[in-house]
Amino acid sequence: MNAEEITEKYKVAVIGSGNWGSVAAKLIASNTLNYDIFHDEVRMWVFDETLPSGEKLSDAINQTNVNVKYLPGIELGKNVIADPDLDHAVRDANMLVFVTPHQFVEGVCKRLVGKLRGDVQVISLIKGMEFKVDGPCMISSVISKQLGACCCVLMGANIADEIAEEKFSEATIGYRENKEVAERWARLFATPYFSVTAIQDLEGVELCGTLKNVVAIAAGFVDGLEMGSNTKAAIIRIGLNEMRAFSKRLSPSVREDTFFESCGMADLIATCFGGRNRKVAEAFAIHGGQRPFDDLETEMLQGQKLQGVSTAREVYQVLESNRWFDSFPLFRTVHEICIGNKPPSAIVHYNDFRKAEDKI
Ligand SMILES: NC(=O)c1ccc[n+]([C@@H]2O[C@H](COP(=O)([O-])OP(=O)(O)OC[C@H]3O[C@@H](n4cnc5c(N)ncnc54)[C@H](O)[C@@H]3O)[C@@H](O)[C@H]2O)c1
Repeated sequence: MNAEEITEKYKVAVIGSGNWGSVAAKLIASNTLNYDIFHDEVRMWVFDETLPSGEKLSDAINQTNVNVKYLPGIELGKNVIADPDLDHAVRDANMLVFVTPHQFVEGVCKRLVGKLRGDVQVISLIKGMEFKVDGPCMISSVISKQLGACCCVLMGANIADEIAEEKFSEATIGYRENKEVAERWARLFATPYFSVTAIQDLEGVELCGTLKNVVAIAAGFVDGLEMGSNTKAAIIRIGLNEMRAFSKRLSPSVREDTFFESCGMADLIATCFGGRNRKVAEAFAIHGGQRPFDDLETEMLQGQKLQGVSTAREVYQVLESNRWFDSFPLFRTVHEICIGNKPPSAIVHYNDFRKAEDKI
């Protein structure tokens, strides 16, 4: 292969190296070796930290090929290079995978302005939203506005630790216009144990992935109160209904069938049974709402971040600014419980939910 052909290859950088970021890098690295259209090497930007051993996390990853803090015991692939220097990690990359917790995205984007290739394509694996003065803003919009680049999303029933062990799962890519770009992303991620479908509903896919974390908090309360399977199923049903209604009000183009893709019902079910949001919310309810989420997050997640509590706050702001409280009692109640205004048992005020559905 001559030098010219090599420069035509797509070069991938992963921005983020937490639990899901590391698994994403592993999936991608197996495909960059398999397909000639991609450069073999995958740069993974690490928000560096010092481990209890005194070693830097990025050095430990490069020496062991394992993210010892966020994904212990799993080899990432020798072609994954941990890089603590953001500018260096993205240099020459024309496929950027964003996978930091959502509260850090804006800061990372600001640091990248003016430093990227003109032809860069971006995909966001991030679940969450921002509430700005002029209303809610999805993470893909934050990224594309700041970087001036086209941004797809990948969401699904994807509990990272299970995919790391190569257990079968599915994911959905949402795109707005360019099917060819979406299919290239699908090629970068798909493996025999990770089945990826691309659909033309960027907003629907991203809203599903974001809102399900609020329902997972509700499911955790139900588990902590030992209310059983019927109650949990009811919460999931009510939650899905509110997810759908909320998504359509924010973005009328959202497609009905998106809720039946991996990013919809499947992710909702997985998150309400596994996943960190459910787990920490369960502990919150067991403690009768007396221990704040921040404390539980620090104690239970060892540096990993909760998304559901902050998303519930952002969703609440949207409800408040639009006077939509009556139509979304589950979303509203989750936030009120999280901030201590209601007890965890308030999650099952069934009559309110039925009355709201009449209004949706
Ligand atoms: N873990 C999962 O199973 C999973 C599955 C699907 C989607 N997601 C989504 O992926 C996104 C990333 O989650 P994750 O699981 O990879 O991360 P994580 O919660 O496991 O780890 C937190 C990460 O944030 C980094 N960090 C801490 N402070 C930072 C700062 N100031 N600036 C930048 N980075 C900082 C840490 O270094 C670490 O890499 C989230 O939006 C999450 O909802 C996670």
